[in-house]
Amino acid sequence: MDKIKIKVPATSANLGSGFDICGIALERPFDEMEVSVSGADTIKSIGKYSVPENMSENTCGPVVSKMRQDFGFGPLDIMINKQIRPGGGMGSSAASAAGIAYAIDKLFDLKLDDESIVKYAALGEQIAAGTPHYDNVTPAIFGGFTIVFSRNPIKIKKINAPKTLDAIIIAPEEGKISTKAARSVLPDMVSRISSQDNLQCLSSLICSMLDGNVEMLIKSMDDKIIEPARAKAGILKHFDEIKRIASSLGYGVAASGAGPAVLILGDRSNNSKNDLIAQIDQVFKEKHEIILSSISNSGATTLG
Ligand code: HSE
Repeated sequence: MDKIKIKVPATSANLGSGFDICGIALERPFDEMEVSVSGADTIKSIGKYSVPENMSENTCGPVVSKMRQDFGFGPLDIMINKQIRPGGGMGSSAASAAGIAYAIDKLFDLKLDDESIVKYAALGEQIAAGTPHYDNVTPAIFGGFTIVFSRNPIKIKKINAPKTLDAIIIAPEEGKISTKAARSVLPDMVSRISSQDNLQCLSSLICSMLDGNVEMLIKSMDDKIIEPARAKAGILKHFDEIKRIASSLGYGVAASGAGPAVLILGDRSNNSKNDLIAQIDQVFKEKHEIILSSISNSGATTLG
């Protein structure tokens, strides 16, 4: 094989209390990437959004460089059709990093285990976040709801999301923020009561995914540590108001990754969706897009 075309989904990390641990893959939006064996390393950015075309600034760069060092392949042409808004909180940088790790594994038939693909992909996150984190790249590669339960060595678990789970994303069109900047506002120390509250939410979040219980999942989406700090720093707009509206209509809310996007989850049978969107549009005066998506339980896939 000397060429591969793939599709990589947007992801939403944290889901409230699962900071740097949990993530979920969305059916849409998604990026497409074409990677081919070539005479020189190139990156071409096409699509709705543009990304850096040099290896040192693109999140593909560190992944290619480390995988090449370990497996010794030659130059690559990388074409990125970017449909996931960069800096929006929907795993745009992770999609490129996860996509290139997945594509190289397939292109050179490396047959890497799941943890190794995640480890390589996370190197790309270093450019965006200043530190490798795994909660976007893991669902981008494997789909579903994922848990990173050990960082060193990396250990991950994937759970298929309930089939009736639907996502509504509020994606602000302004206020792009780097993950690094959004991490700089986080506290180093937290109170015992906040950490206990978050552990309760995280336990019930994971149990609800294992049981496929959407009602319990919605009630588990809360965070006393990360989201309040980011809301206070102005990264998450109208967050408390959106939570109040969504919870009154039977939906759960979390900051989507580092923000500014907001993830709302609910059951497909909830017929308040239009009411929810109308009320959000009233409150969220800044320019934004509402994205409706189901959950991708497959993650990165080969198109050809
Ligand atoms: N867990 C990361 C954060 C996700 O919240 O900073 C970044 O998308």
